[in-house]
Amino acid sequence: MIEQHAEVTFNDRVAADTYLMGLKSPDIAARAHPGQFVMIRVGAQADPLLRRPFSICGVRKDGGLLILYRVVGRGTRIMAGAGPGTGFDVLGPLGNGFDFPAQPGESLLVAGGMGIAPLSFLAQRTGQEVQILTGYACADQQIPFECLGLSHCAVLVATEDGTIGHHGRVTDLLQESGNHIPHGYAQVYACGPIPMLMAVADLTLRQGIACQVSLESTMACGLGACQGCAVPAAPGSDRRYYHVCQDGPVFEVGTLDWEQLQPHVP
Ligand SMILES: Cc1cc2nc3c(=O)[nH]c(=O)nc-3n(C[C@H](O)[C@H](O)[C@H](O)COP(=O)(O)OP(=O)(O)OC[C@H]3O[C@@H](n4cnc5c(N)ncnc54)[C@H](O)[C@@H]3O)c2cc1C
Ligand code: FES
Repeated sequence: MIEQHAEVTFNDRVAADTYLMGLKSPDIAARAHPGQFVMIRVGAQADPLLRRPFSICGVRKDGGLLILYRVVGRGTRIMAGAGPGTGFDVLGPLGNGFDFPAQPGESLLVAGGMGIAPLSFLAQRTGQEVQILTGYACADQQIPFECLGLSHCAVLVATEDGTIGHHGRVTDLLQESGNHIPHGYAQVYACGPIPMLMAVADLTLRQGIACQVSLESTMACGLGACQGCAVPAAPGSDRRYYHVCQDGPVFEVGTLDWEQLQPHVP
């Protein structure tokens, strides 16, 4: 884990309230693995005090670290106002990452909203065409595939209001006739809101398909010290809780207690 003062190289608006930020952070970028995250201190002052966690969305050969973020509160508003040359204190790479698929062609990536950030990095690293299902609330939240380096992938879109792509949820795209993940997929990777992950977990567990999910949770320290990010382990595990920051954010679906998860994660 490295703490680095990283300069913003660009900070482009790519969709409604959504920005892609480049940070010059060669040491973190060199060690980053898809699924890992960084903690960014957004202000030099006491407020906001806590660092904010963000998935690593990609890395560039010149040492650039890509962060895709949606403006939801004070910290992300400060980030959105940062121009090139602004410096942020960045800690990372943190947490575990995705296990790479043995056969990328048999992998299905399912992203809800900002869940596309870690899955883009995974898709870039496979270097092969993978199928990605993305879901947004509406068309103006859709992030152009080109800016995520996903031109080589097959991407399907669903929007809840039907303004683009399939009218409905991203999990609708998962279900062929009946309630099944289409044949031919041996591994599912998912990141997004908890209800979406619950639906994916239900499908993959029932069909016996390997699935890794990347969870978001409230995080104060990001280092295993505050207990703030605990999620319940599956019944029968040797532990009652896992820490998303250290044991995750990527988990095999079968290791979590999905029935108890909702109350613990925003
Ligand atoms: C491992 C991890 C990876 C993440 N990756 C990304 C990413 O790639 N892109 C991205 O846009 N966001 C990501 N997030 C969420 C991001 O950390 C929060 O959106 C951010 O901390 C909000 O900071 P803020 O100061 O703007 O909002 P705050 O003022 O702290 O909160 C504003 C609102 O956002 C909600 N909120 C705060 N934190 C979270 C959270 N972790 N999950 C859901 N809602 C939250 C609060 O409940 C509140 O309603 C990630 C979170 C985790 C734990
Ligand atoms: S964020 Fe503090 S223990 Fe995980």
